[in-house]
Amino acid sequence: MQQKDLHILAIESSCDETAAAVISNGKIVSNVVASQSIHEMYGGVVPELASRAHQQKIIHMVDKALSDANLSKSSLQAIAFTQGPGLLGALLVGACFAKALALGLAIPLIAVHHMRAHILANFIGEIPPTFPFLCLVVSGGHTQLVLVKSHTSMQLLGQTQDDAVGEAYDKIAKMMGFPYPGGALIDQHAQEGDPTRFQFPATMMPGLDFSFSGIKTAFLQFIHKNTQKDPNFIAAHRADICASIQHTLVQMLLSKVKKAMTQTGLTSVALAGGVAANQGLRQALAQLAQQHHWKLDVPARAYCTDNAAMVAMAAHYQYVAQDFADLTTKVFPSMSI
Ligand code: KG4
Ligand code: ZN
Repeated sequence: MQQKDLHILAIESSCDETAAAVISNGKIVSNVVASQSIHEMYGGVVPELASRAHQQKIIHMVDKALSDANLSKSSLQAIAFTQGPGLLGALLVGACFAKALALGLAIPLIAVHHMRAHILANFIGEIPPTFPFLCLVVSGGHTQLVLVKSHTSMQLLGQTQDDAVGEAYDKIAKMMGFPYPGGALIDQHAQEGDPTRFQFPATMMPGLDFSFSGIKTAFLQFIHKNTQKDPNFIAAHRADICASIQHTLVQMLLSKVKKAMTQTGLTSVALAGGVAANQGLRQALAQLAQQHHWKLDVPARAYCTDNAAMVAMAAHYQYVAQDFADLTTKVFPSMSI
């Protein structure tokens, strides 16, 4: 007997991206994202506004994902949603929508961990990573080193003790006058700058943990001191400042990757999360991997920042493992991996 195709609709609404995707038999067949520009004028995500924007956009995103996939709701076998970590109100919009849809269609519901989904974005490409591997997970809310043993078994080896690297990027960008979220703009300007022009103190935590609050303060003092001497300092040295701070941030991340690879004896490494879209980080890790003969996996840039394709990928493996949620399943603003 021919087996029925497995189509899963996934919804992502943990922060300021309203996204939907469809995965069919383990392959992404549609993926749509609506970014919320409303937060730009506030210089950061306003949780209440994020929830409202999700509510306005979610129906359209789901309809678009289904029509792009050329599927009707009745051909779906499961509905997946992001359970956490993330903003409570934002998560609730996606979860309630997914529950209502699953209930109406009488199909299973799948609750996906956002950070695990970021890691599983590495499986969207043609050549998937091989287990076990180390994943450096870098986003706006998290900076983690994770030992990935299988699609469903992951172990946290180290993490930031204060700010996430994405948060540091965005705060530094704000100090330079870039609009929110400015991480990608630092990366863009860094491409034309000299990374050795300015020096910043890298904070080194013991073990495999990170800290990014110190460098943020050091950067604020650096800007303050130099703009007092020359009000045009930022504009005159924009590319060099971006390249230098990016170089320091990347080195802080990579020194812990090196340490984790030595400690674990792993030979395979991967990147994930919004900051994994950073060209400087991707290039530096590629160089390091080549030097040490590690296998390297990096998701396509569109699958690094928040998206529903990664949630769909995670949902596919959870479906295979029969890991289902139900209508009583809650969402969680913070969740260990
Ligand atoms: O994973 P993500 O989309 O959302 C969270 O789960 O947090 O990550 C967003 C973060 C933001 O801090 C954003 O500035 C940063 O990723 N980001 C970048 C780049 N693209 C996005 N940071 C540095 N360079 C980039 N190219
Ligand atoms: Zn994310």
